Amino acid sequence: MGGQAQAGDGPVVTPGDGSRRDFRAAVLDGLSRPQKAIPSRYFYDERGSALFDRICTLDEYYPTRTEIGILEACCGEIGRMLPSETAVIEMGSGSSRKVKPLLDALKTPCAYVPVDISREHLIASARALARQYPQLTVIPVWSDFAKAFSMPALPAKSRLIFFPGSTIGNFTPEAAVSLLSGWSRHIGLGGHLIIGVDLKKDPQTLQAAYDDSAGVTAAFNLNLLARANRELGATFDLDAFRHRAVYNADEGRVEMHLVSSGEQRVCVDDQPFTFAAGESIHTENSYKYLVEEFRDLACAAGYRSLAVFTDSATLFSVHVLQVRKLRIGEAAL
Ligand code: AVI
Repeated sequence: MGGQAQAGDGPVVTPGDGSRRDFRAAVLDGLSRPQKAIPSRYFYDERGSALFDRICTLDEYYPTRTEIGILEACCGEIGRMLPSETAVIEMGSGSSRKVKPLLDALKTPCAYVPVDISREHLIASARALARQYPQLTVIPVWSDFAKAFSMPALPAKSRLIFFPGSTIGNFTPEAAVSLLSGWSRHIGLGGHLIIGVDLKKDPQTLQAAYDDSAGVTAAFNLNLLARANRELGATFDLDAFRHRAVYNADEGRVEMHLVSSGEQRVCVDDQPFTFAAGESIHTENSYKYLVEEFRDLACAAGYRSLAVFTDSATLFSVHVLQVRKLRIGEAAL
């Protein structure tokens, strides 16, 4: 099967969520709330994506290297658990780096569908991967994976979604259940989901991972305000906000905030917003799970657990799940 790389023909286009209009609406709405907030998905403009790539290389940010280590060690075993002629759909594919050990381990993977919001990154990575895997049909989909999009027809006997990086942790548990149960429709009954999930651990390790000594995560967080200034003509003074990351043990999540150093007034699109000293904009949640907690979440989303792999220090986990129940509207089939 396969042999036809479609990456050069341009992506299957679905309008993305990166537009200025959506960003503007999200900022105006978020700053009007009692706890001011801006959704974390707006971190990833060009500069934000470059800063995130740097975060992934930091000593303190253990998830990336730990997950790659697990995948390299366990993909052989994962490959033996999965059927042949599978199409691999990667949500938030970025550079398509982590999928390679999986593609190498699968029996005759026949299609790879990277789904990403960043169009240029998507096309470049899909082209590079199509050159490396000439037997594979590569069909990039330009879309926000968190929104509904139509899946292209795939020349495959079965489908697998790959969702590494613990990006699922950036959704509330309720939103995570709804996202994963929605995806079961893309892969069908008996299809598979391989998902990376960061684990609960001591607060010091978490704190350091989200407030690194080189200040890269602080720059990543503050870039959200710089982006609002660039794209929306907002008047944020970046020196008047500081980065704060804190582990909220009751909620099981690391929270990132931008804290106003003093009383101030900021305009976004001519709308004024006032800040008290110490008042924050909540910019990200990164939920951490116990292995059992995530199994239960996956079960609530209609999946059964086939296997879980962790590193020796149990910092991170990779879950292999199978769709056991399809949810269509409110009804479970
Ligand atoms: C993309 N996501 C899984 C990262 C995380 O760890 O929650 C984003 C991030 N925020 C700060 N550092 C990294």
